[in-house]
Amino acid sequence: MDQNSIAWKVAESCFEQGAEFVLTNAPIALRMGGINDLAAKTGSEIVPCDVTKDEDMEALIDRAMELYGQVDFILHSVGMSLNIRKNKPYTGSNYDFMHKTLDISAISFHRLLQTCYNKDAIREGGSVVCLTYIAAQRVFPDYGEMAESKALLESITRSFGYHYGVKNKVRVNSISQSPTMTTAGSGVGGFDAFLDFANKMSPLGNANAESCADYCVSLFSDLTRMVTMQNLYNDGGYSSTGVSEPVMSMFGDKD
Ligand SMILES: NC(=O)c1ccc[n+]([C@@H]2O[C@H](COP(=O)([O-])OP(=O)(O)OC[C@H]3O[C@@H](n4cnc5c(N)ncnc54)[C@H](O)[C@@H]3O)[C@@H](O)[C@H]2O)c1
Repeated sequence: MDQNSIAWKVAESCFEQGAEFVLTNAPIALRMGGINDLAAKTGSEIVPCDVTKDEDMEALIDRAMELYGQVDFILHSVGMSLNIRKNKPYTGSNYDFMHKTLDISAISFHRLLQTCYNKDAIREGGSVVCLTYIAAQRVFPDYGEMAESKALLESITRSFGYHYGVKNKVRVNSISQSPTMTTAGSGVGGFDAFLDFANKMSPLGNANAESCADYCVSLFSDLTRMVTMQNLYNDGGYSSTGVSEPVMSMFGDKD
């Protein structure tokens, strides 16, 4: 995580609204140290957690409960593709990598929810949000196996959202975010051109990380207390646009 990360902006927005929270990242990523500035600014404790490890997830939730009792909200902001990172094309995927990608980017959300469910870690009416991308619904060739990761992530959102709603009125939603210039985002091939295309296709332009953070805060709040099991677009209208005039003007007879 660094200051471009969506999670960083969400933490800042939550802090501005008076929230207290713990921050986390994979132990190896914590060595970079950038998160320390955010922790100092928001008065937060950092708890290491590799989201693919049951024992790390347990320790993270246990520590949060020691500090706060039950918690009100959780953001899952984790994604990584090993095949993309190793420059493997979609049609030449390595399956060990693919398993790991699905574990990090999607199954970790189930692990998080199940750990909380079993420990009764989330207060009645609490809210859990994860971040996804429209490649779960439509093909974006350079997004590779992350498309499957996001499809699984959104399915877990619905399925666990059902069970957690019944148990304790806990809400579970995904936000489908515009392409955003972050470390994970820029790992996708041709990202600059793609950002430009999405911007031209969206009536409001691309949604930036700050707007995503504001949307997260609204979903963490009681104002959205009856919203659950939804995939919600924060994309400037991209997902409902077939084609836009700026994009049309780049093709065909210009007279
Ligand atoms: N940037 C975009 O264009 C965009 C668009 C839509 C959705 N998203 C999603 O938003 C979320 C946040 O991504 P971001 O763009 O802020 O990028 P980011 O690279 O800043 O965040 C991804 C985080 O995942 C962490 N991570 C990776 N493996 C981990 C593991 N095993 N255990 C714990 N943490 C691990 C990384 O350390 C990093 O902090 C991701 O789910 C991403 O897919 C991003």
